[in-house]
Amino acid sequence: MKVGVIMGGMSSERQISLLTGQEMVNNLNKEKYEVKPIVINNKMDLIEQSAGLDIALLALHGKYGEDGTVQATLDSLGIPYTGCGVLSSGVCMDKDMTKKLLRFEGVATGDWAMVGSLEELSAPAVERLGFPVVVKPNLGGSSIGTRIARTPAELKSAVQEALKWDSAIMVEQFIGGDEITCPILNGKLLPIVAIKPSGEFFDYTSKYEDGAADEKVVELPRELHDKVEAAALASYKALKCSVYARIDMIVKDGVPYVLEINTLPGLTRNSLLPKSAAAAGIPFGKLLDYIIDYSLE
Ligand code: DAL
Ligand code: MG
Repeated sequence: MKVGVIMGGMSSERQISLLTGQEMVNNLNKEKYEVKPIVINNKMDLIEQSAGLDIALLALHGKYGEDGTVQATLDSLGIPYTGCGVLSSGVCMDKDMTKKLLRFEGVATGDWAMVGSLEELSAPAVERLGFPVVVKPNLGGSSIGTRIARTPAELKSAVQEALKWDSAIMVEQFIGGDEITCPILNGKLLPIVAIKPSGEFFDYTSKYEDGAADEKVVELPRELHDKVEAAALASYKALKCSVYARIDMIVKDGVPYVLEINTLPGLTRNSLLPKSAAAAGIPFGKLLDYIIDYSLE
């Protein structure tokens, strides 16, 4: 079977995508697959290099990769690919749309408001959030351009920074609690990972530098585990995910608040999903076999 590992791309998460792609290339079973690494540097690369693939193994993160655009191109070329489809990818990339759907389904998520300029910070929808808040580019990933703001001055500079990455900015209530993540494979929850970043929050450095965060597979007390599992599966279903995804949450006072859904979660050496899969007895190579098999079903 000819597997193209599609990596790189034009998003702010290009470097992480290259790491995910390299990890996939290293771990794919070469007796089973003919592996073709495909690095995307411009909009034509995918079209020119994907001919003849039996499946495209997506290692892309962020815009033009995780957001449904590459999925739509592959659909129109008739090339199967791994992970979620066009609709789910597009909606999950959009943090605002995701939270609207989560609310509709009754899944807890922090309050938020959207702004497109500094002038909008005085809107009642923003002011009622109080402080602290988290400021995020709506279509971002890997916490790039994300900051916590504790004062109006910090909020202003955080929005200025986020506007470098996106024209729509989410200002979200900061929920001070325990951060966990819930990887899902084929509709089933894998072991939950608890995250204790060394800094203020799980930022880019904490995510990707060796030893910069303490990430452990945890067994939560039964009642909390069941609530977390229910929220994770409800999110996966509400956003029409398929094959695999990773749901990030904060738990406070026994309530899991969903932050977002990652449809192409990082699979780098330091990423969370492979750690969780390993704890479930699924080594990286086997995880890729499952992802490919479920995507072809
Ligand atoms: N956006 C990064 C790659 C993640 O969620 O793992
Ligand atoms: Mg993300």
